[in-house]
Amino acid sequence: MRTLKRLLFAVLAACGLLSFYVFWWFTERYSGRGPMSYTMRWILHQPLRRLVHPVRPMLDKFGVRSGATVLELGPGNGYFSIEAGRRLGDGGRLVCLDIQRPMLHDLRGRLATAGVTNAHPVLGDAHHLPLADASVDVAFLVTVLGEIPARPRGLAELRRVLKPGAILSITESLTDPDYQFEATVRDVCRASGFTPRDHHPGLLGFTMNFAAPPSR
Ligand SMILES: C[S@@+](CC[C@H](N)C(=O)[O-])C[C@H]1O[C@@H](n2cnc3c(N)ncnc32)[C@H](O)[C@@H]1O
Repeated sequence: MRTLKRLLFAVLAACGLLSFYVFWWFTERYSGRGPMSYTMRWILHQPLRRLVHPVRPMLDKFGVRSGATVLELGPGNGYFSIEAGRRLGDGGRLVCLDIQRPMLHDLRGRLATAGVTNAHPVLGDAHHLPLADASVDVAFLVTVLGEIPARPRGLAELRRVLKPGAILSITESLTDPDYQFEATVRDVCRASGFTPRDHHPGLLGFTMNFAAPPSR
């Protein structure tokens, strides 16, 4: 009888959590877009995410290699940043640019705890990247594109800061209320001068890589 009660409690708790998640998803998606709320930041680090977004294999797909200069646009509180910084090593540099100061504050704390010194949290907006022309080897965005109001403007900025032929990697996930469909991502990137390179389907989403134009 006790086991049955526990089981019932577990099922009710799981249903409650799921309902909360679905409610949050629909509210975020259909009640005016904008950056993800800071109060929901815990969702970015909840343990089940490892199943959908395994960090190391995904960094492989983004093309993050030792010694490179990498822009992580919209890192939030750093689900990918620590491992990315480690992978880049002493000769590499990771710029973590986010529009939300509190997210960057959390990220700074995580980087310090992990002893990662080559990752630099920067407060900024995708529409005006504070980076030099042709200075970046790889730029990656995970569940960020849909939060940028003027996507062509943001992509023009990415094109400006990426070196000719460099990689722009975009990951979208159905778990994100601002999910962008594959065709939308492909079309908007093509229209901004990027060439599709490779495509990686994933659990509940995809990663698409593009090459920056050879010259501007
Ligand atoms: C859904 S979170 C994803 C965070 C992280 N990429 C991850 O996968 O864990 C989106 C992040 O993009 C940031 N963001 C949204 N619009 C932005 C903009 N215009 N410029 C820079 N960052 C932006 C938000 O502040 C937020 O931290």
